[in-house]
Amino acid sequence: QTRVLTGITTTGTPHLGNYAGAIRPAIAASQRADVDAFFFLADYHALIKCDDPARIERSRQALAATWLASGLDPNRVTFYRQSDIPEIPELTWLLTCVTAKGLMNRAHAYKAAADANTAAARDVDDGVTMGLFSYPILMAADILMFNAHQVPVGRDQVQHIEMARDIASRFNHLFGQGREFFVLPEAVIEEQVAVLPGLDGRKMSKSYDNTIPLFDGGAKALKEAIARVVTDSKLPGEPKDAEGSHLYTLYSAFASAEQTAGFRTDLQAGLGWGEAKTRLFELLDGHLAPMRARYEELMARPAELEEILMNGAAKARAQAAPLLAELRNAVGLRRMV
Ligand code: TYM
Repeated sequence: QTRVLTGITTTGTPHLGNYAGAIRPAIAASQRADVDAFFFLADYHALIKCDDPARIERSRQALAATWLASGLDPNRVTFYRQSDIPEIPELTWLLTCVTAKGLMNRAHAYKAAADANTAAARDVDDGVTMGLFSYPILMAADILMFNAHQVPVGRDQVQHIEMARDIASRFNHLFGQGREFFVLPEAVIEEQVAVLPGLDGRKMSKSYDNTIPLFDGGAKALKEAIARVVTDSKLPGEPKDAEGSHLYTLYSAFASAEQTAGFRTDLQAGLGWGEAKTRLFELLDGHLAPMRARYEELMARPAELEEILMNGAAKARAQAAPLLAELRNAVGLRRMV
């Protein structure tokens, strides 16, 4: 059995990048007979960037409904909220004690904040919390707690998974006495959607405010977002550079090879951008509309979502507690079970 695990932070509403980079490949993997899947809502991670409790709660519900509407089968997948698993923060502390500060200094999220401060002639750590700084250790605990072999993610998360491997090796080396407590996880990346572009061509991201919502706002919001995709100023009739356009990249992330080839030929033959946007909308809406209907049903039934998540938490804790007991013992703490 291959264990596949991934999570999404519960800030904001899920966007097309989360879906193409993580949700879609994760669900496809969970349908394979040789896979044992663990998917979760990273709400401890959400606290790092967000101090609005109502927003975290809304986002958690929207994400839970999104995973289920996208085809997650809670009978096959262990599907849970990170904050329902108290073993995770405890493991985070055990890992924190063996993680070099220098490793965290190199983490992208921290470096980006530090570099922006330096560029603006502020103190390097201005506005940086310990949550942001040690974020990759919490993520390592998410992955190592369940001994995941594979972690489907977009390219922006690869460094964190490499850090999880480093931290796991260090712990195994210090306390394993010949035993490997932790499996070394691998990132699984779908090349074509490793970095899905947003409206302006940069990586689609909540932080850039350039996202295309997955379900929220329905077909209308989808159409409006697509209308805002930035293109060059070539007129209908002029040949377009398909490969150089992120409208084309977005299209190809959801179309078959034949559809993509047809779209490229038409753009090169002078298809207008307005018409190209209509085609992108039709493609995406065709794909998303059935899932959106299911999403809306689930959003109207919070008690059902809650029950699914609580069942998932019980399954996840049944795995986490025995491993944590061994780890406590290995580092010299009282054995709890
Ligand atoms: P988050 O919530 O920022 O993103 C969730 C997933 O979506 C992917 N993604 C993208 N993929 C392709 N193109 C894009 N434009 C794009 N934007 C986002 C991300 O790569 C990610 O896979 N720290 C994580 C959540 C997390 C986690 C974990 C993931 C916590 N613990 C353990 C895996 C394993 C995060 O903030 O992702």
